[in-house]
Amino acid sequence: MAKDRVVLAYSGGLDTSICIKWLQEEKGLDVIAVAGDVGQQHQGLQIVHDKALDLGAIDSRVIDMREEFCEDFLSKALAANAMYENKYPLVSALSRPVIVKHLVDVAHETGARYIAHGCTGKGNDQVRFELGIQALDPELEIIAPAREWDLLTRPAEIAYAEKHGVPVPATKASPYSIDDNLWGRAIECGILEDPWAEPPEDVYTMTSGAHDAPAAPEYVEISFEHGIPCGLNGEPKSFMDIILAMNEIAGRNGFGRIDMIENRLVGVKSRECYEVPGALTLIQAHKALEDLVLERDLLHYKLGIEQTWATTVYNGLWFSPLKEALDGFCSATQQLVSGDVRLRFYKGSCVTVGRRSKYSLYDYSLATYDEGDTFDRDAAKGFIELHGLPNKTWARRRKETGTPGQI
Ligand code: ARG
Repeated sequence: MAKDRVVLAYSGGLDTSICIKWLQEEKGLDVIAVAGDVGQQHQGLQIVHDKALDLGAIDSRVIDMREEFCEDFLSKALAANAMYENKYPLVSALSRPVIVKHLVDVAHETGARYIAHGCTGKGNDQVRFELGIQALDPELEIIAPAREWDLLTRPAEIAYAEKHGVPVPATKASPYSIDDNLWGRAIECGILEDPWAEPPEDVYTMTSGAHDAPAAPEYVEISFEHGIPCGLNGEPKSFMDIILAMNEIAGRNGFGRIDMIENRLVGVKSRECYEVPGALTLIQAHKALEDLVLERDLLHYKLGIEQTWATTVYNGLWFSPLKEALDGFCSATQQLVSGDVRLRFYKGSCVTVGRRSKYSLYDYSLATYDEGDTFDRDAAKGFIELHGLPNKTWARRRKETGTPGQI
């Protein structure tokens, strides 16, 4: 009788390589390995592809998801200026849904009943994989080998790997747990688990330290069309090429490092370091343009939507009715977010120094303190009177009744 099939989210690393053997031996399944290219640093995805087959997978696929990741995922994150806890631009939380989408597609194509991922039981990524899979196909069953097996320590893992013919990297394993893609890089574990310890320079690979950055400022002009980056220094470019270029430019100028304590969905606080030079730059520029073109009440209301968007996506609910509705709101706000933003990088800083748009709501004649002022100062008097009327009434009554108050 043919064996049941499982589609495994495969990275080529030790953990997911052990997963291939484990799924075959402990669960008696045929494994289909799927590795996604989301723009992570790698030593060649062909090697990853072949390694899965060497380990006995019946099928191995490497899927270039970068374009789709930009068009359908990062564009929405940028429209929402998405920053979890106002700091973290959701690097890992954004790549999981695009990977999930492909895992589910491959499961449907190959008739697999199961999908497996290599996440441990302690992080957010397991939640993102599983909620995503459930939302796209509630009938699929999920296996999380690393949550079931008892290989809790590195030596136990290595012993299992050696026993089952899984190649163990000869180089000493990095003390850090890394996850990266086009939108940046997340670094955890090792010395970083001490929140008082300054991150050693070797955790960073995308950004220089501010001290080592060039001594002269570097100016960059980013153009947007309907909220999507479409040009760099006057030259039309794709969103993906702009992300890549900004990772490079901001990175070499020492901009884009984050060191934070983060509240995981599973209830623990963790110390996280990120390098997100391109993401932070593009969110900053995008916000600067929105400041110019979005009407005040809309801009203010959107800030709340942005926080909800980021928390919802962080918590694994990319494919959910709430997130879909929030996208609808954000997308409606992006119609007129077209124009240019000028930034100056210098030794770890990125400052917005200019913005322009044909949809700009900045009106010189209303804003100026110089000649040409058309602002009606006389209207201010009545405006203040009515705007303050409820508060004034309250203050008067409070005084009359002698009610104690804080003021
Ligand atoms: N804390 C971040 C998040 O939850 C980063 C997770 C990184 N994942 C990893 N496997 N190292 O989005």
